[in-house]
Amino acid sequence: MVTSPSPYRREGWGGGPLIMQYKYCGHSGVQLPVLSLGLWHNFGSVDDFSTATQMVVKAFDAGICHFDLANNYGPVPGSAESNFGRILKNNLASHRDEMFISSKAGHQMWEGVYGDGSSRKNIIASCDQSLRRMGLEYVDIFYSHRYDGVTPIEETMQALIDLVRQGKALYVGISKYPPHLQQQCYDILREAHVPCLLSQYRCSMFDPKAQRENFQIAADNGSGIICFSPLAQGLLTGKYDNGIPADSRAAKSTGFLQQSQVTPERVEAARQLGAIAKQRGQSLAQMALAWILKDERVTSCIIGTSSVAQLDNNLATLNNLTFSDDEVTAIKNIIDKPELWF
Ligand SMILES: NC(=O)c1ccc[n+]([C@@H]2O[C@H](COP(=O)([O-])OP(=O)(O)OC[C@H]3O[C@@H](n4cnc5c(N)ncnc54)[C@H](OP(=O)(O)O)[C@@H]3O)[C@@H](O)[C@H]2O)c1
Repeated sequence: MVTSPSPYRREGWGGGPLIMQYKYCGHSGVQLPVLSLGLWHNFGSVDDFSTATQMVVKAFDAGICHFDLANNYGPVPGSAESNFGRILKNNLASHRDEMFISSKAGHQMWEGVYGDGSSRKNIIASCDQSLRRMGLEYVDIFYSHRYDGVTPIEETMQALIDLVRQGKALYVGISKYPPHLQQQCYDILREAHVPCLLSQYRCSMFDPKAQRENFQIAADNGSGIICFSPLAQGLLTGKYDNGIPADSRAAKSTGFLQQSQVTPERVEAARQLGAIAKQRGQSLAQMALAWILKDERVTSCIIGTSSVAQLDNNLATLNNLTFSDDEVTAIKNIIDKPELWF
């Protein structure tokens, strides 16, 4: 079931005409803001804690009540969850029931054979660790971060189901699962009466694969869809138009975006897209987010930000979420090129 976004203004939000919009996650009673905040980069022990605090608090005040984490976010791994726990305790302790907080397990986290992958051993231990780091009694959603290529789907899904039964997670989700395994996950979870709330996939103007291969399977099974890296880690902001800025993700040794991925083709496409965004009275980042949100099946986009100014910029996406037919054609002419895709 896909529903239209419903507008809501959080009490206490004093800024301008902006009103956050919320959508139901697939066939469920849970609503999420159409923009969520992810803590993969910029919230670790290597980052500025004051900026991290300001971004979380500002996001919450603007109606972003969904925060996306995982056991390994940092660096160092685990430190984003520890910092988020501190931020909650210091600033938002009385607002827990207004928030939807996620964590995930499945990527390399601790030493030894149990610190990686999607086994029951990893998932149950990992969730316990995440709860301790964040100082929470439960997470709102716990994901299998990835299919590890080995663990039977039944084992991984049963571990997620048991987290719900144990009261450690309210809902469960899958992340990056290939299309041929999605249906199996949804079937196992549905049979246990713990339906998959969200399917998390990478999706941007430079990354249409999941939209083509995974979204419809999720939608047909009543799962919400939440997109990560909607700005292609910053490539869809115009920041790389004149080279690689020193403070950008591509320049940082801790950043996941490789300089080799900042190709001349992508930079040129971003420049052309930026011109269209300008005509729409938007930044390229805003247009790129609006582009993802125009897909009715998408519940929310998880943005990452390294400053409050970026967060403000991205929030203003909500002022223009529609595209004319001419704009759609012009944009497709720029992005329908496999050399741009990840
Ligand atoms: N399930 C998974 O496997 C998975 C994988 C990856 C991510 N995720 C989730 O998705 C979240 C978002 O991913 P992402 O950080 O890659 O998202 P993104 O929105 O594509 O990229 C965020 C980066 O873009 C730049 N940026 C953002 N807004 C900007 C603006 N208005 N102007 C200029 N630059 C801007 C910043 O980079 P600079 O540092 O260069 O300023 C920022 O750190 C993560 O935090 C995580 O929660 C999940």
